Amino acid sequence: MQVYLNGQYVDDSEARVSIDDRGFLFADGVYEVVHIYGQRPFEWDRHMARLERSLAGIGLEAVNVQELAAVRDRLLAQLEHPEASLYIQITRGTQRRSHAPPPPGVLKPTVLMWVRPVDPIAPETVRRGVKAITVPDDRWAKVWIKTIGLLPNVLAKGRALERGAFDAIFVRDGMVTEATSANVFRVKDGVIFTAPVTNYILPGITRAVVIEMARGAGYSVVEEPFSAELLYDADEVFLTGTLTEVLPVTEVDGRAIGTEAGPVALHLLDLLHRRALGA
Ligand code: PDD
Repeated sequence: MQVYLNGQYVDDSEARVSIDDRGFLFADGVYEVVHIYGQRPFEWDRHMARLERSLAGIGLEAVNVQELAAVRDRLLAQLEHPEASLYIQITRGTQRRSHAPPPPGVLKPTVLMWVRPVDPIAPETVRRGVKAITVPDDRWAKVWIKTIGLLPNVLAKGRALERGAFDAIFVRDGMVTEATSANVFRVKDGVIFTAPVTNYILPGITRAVVIEMARGAGYSVVEEPFSAELLYDADEVFLTGTLTEVLPVTEVDGRAIGTEAGPVALHLLDLLHRRALGA
């Protein structure tokens, strides 16, 4: 499939980035992932607003994210699959390795975009729910920036898989922050809880949409810190994310959370699908 790289549309097998790209050398860049449902990007404007915040967070404000919509449309025109992920990565650009970031405007940022098919999460996986483990949150203090520097997330995900789990949930100072590429919710006595937006979580677009939809459907949603122990004691736990959607978690650190997907998670997943598919 064709990808967009620095103004060109090229086959993905031909796209090349310099060994001096600061993204390659320093993870000096940011990214977004947008879910495409039947050619329609889900919550495009919110993703662009977050991309602008991430760019500002690393001092890379010169990129005009408004221009990405035309690239998006051209990439989507070649898509034949009903669902896809659209990936956008912007790095500070290419120069001889030096920690010092050059003053704004000196480098041309590297802009990469692709659209690739994804398959929906199997209904059986949703119904059974997935396993998670908790791990110490050893990431930096600017998690709100969607940086491509994801090594702690990668290692935590690897640890989860080694232990037969699907994902790892980060715990900082005894409090749940988020999972490796999703936000975390728990349900107790019909009330929905999730960690508040601070610099220690990524403010998920799906998180925000799910909170709005849940409130609209009459649930109370409380955004306050909670401990891992409260996860064990929950009636339901679920993850939210662009590709994760709403994914029930039925085991945390070997402790069962119900026996299968709970009604609140399934209700919210249904609302999310209706909204995404325009049903
Ligand atoms: N990840 N927290 C982290 C650390 C994430 O990486 C993500 C998304 C989320 C959920 O955010 P959203 O609902 O906006 O997708 C929370 C993307 C999908 C990824 O890295 O592939």
